[in-house]
Amino acid sequence: MSQPRKYKRLIEQGLSYNPLTVESCSMPTILRAFAKINIGLRIGPRRDDGFHELRTVYQTVELHDVIRVQAARGIGIEIRCNRPEVPLDETNTCWRVAERVLKILKRRAKITITITKNLPVQGGLGAGSSNAVATMLALEKELEQSLEAAQRVEIAAAVGSDVPLFLVGGTILGIGRGEQVFPLVEMPSMPCVIATPAISVSTPKAFKDWDEKFDSTSHVANSKLTEKSASGTIKKFSTSVFTWLMGTTAGVPAKSGDRGETPLLDLVRAGIENDFERVVFPQYPELRDVKRVLEREGAKYASLSGSGSSVYGLFESIEAAEKAAGKLNANGVAAQATRTITRREYWKNLVVG
Ligand code: C5P
Repeated sequence: MSQPRKYKRLIEQGLSYNPLTVESCSMPTILRAFAKINIGLRIGPRRDDGFHELRTVYQTVELHDVIRVQAARGIGIEIRCNRPEVPLDETNTCWRVAERVLKILKRRAKITITITKNLPVQGGLGAGSSNAVATMLALEKELEQSLEAAQRVEIAAAVGSDVPLFLVGGTILGIGRGEQVFPLVEMPSMPCVIATPAISVSTPKAFKDWDEKFDSTSHVANSKLTEKSASGTIKKFSTSVFTWLMGTTAGVPAKSGDRGETPLLDLVRAGIENDFERVVFPQYPELRDVKRVLEREGAKYASLSGSGSSVYGLFESIEAAEKAAGKLNANGVAAQATRTITRREYWKNLVVG
């Protein structure tokens, strides 16, 4: 049971794996586009390209949209969606992916993408990004032509910083602007509540607010968060994740099997936070209230996901998760009990049918 062999398999399963190339399914191709949450997110200095250096752990969850892709004779891309706030034009992430896939594979076809939305738009759950990857994988199947792993990652990273994570699934380390992804060890699923208040937070605006509040650019004098301290938070995050990965407590190496029953909780106990809370909560205090309700209801860890507005809580039992979701619903906040999903489950349940 050597760890390197396990790791090698997981890595092979990630980025380069498209189950649709090995399994047949009926036309059109229908996939689940699972959501993600961020378990800790540290914002580092703004880079020369305008993006911020990030460190985060992504975790996929069972909640999902459904993406149906059909390729037929003709040309053009058509998007249909059950929600009016989703753009149906070339700004849609599915459109952007489809356009790139057709170009790289040198194909012409009439592509129809039908999005059945369950996830909030701009909710911090990576819905648009997940929709994009589902479109890519489904389109390969429809066109009966595979992209290379490197081409998939390239397309995903071009479409958005949190798109590539959906080529991996499970628990994932995200670095760079969030687009460089590395599969972390497979962790057991755990109950989770996702609250989706009817507030939409723009990620670019949240980053801008961060800059205004903390001046994370290196050249700003008298900044509250200097480049040094911004790099410091990133370093602290790396140390926490490293400590957790090594299974050590207080620097004492763990014996094998020392890792708790709930490894995700071990990670959050390593002291990681979501920096976006520092700019989003003051603007939307009701989101902080949702986090407090989750904590009061027994969440072992509660946090904003990405830049929000979704707030999640990790629970030790499904009963506690359901009770917490019920409490939020009774307070007029949309919330659902769900669970985190492992990489294996992510790929196993990708195809509908
Ligand atoms: O990559 P994505 O399209 O999701 O990014 C949306 C916007 O969020 C970017 O244009 C940028 O303003 C901001 N961003 C950032 N740093 C990151 C990721 C996103 O500043 N690491």
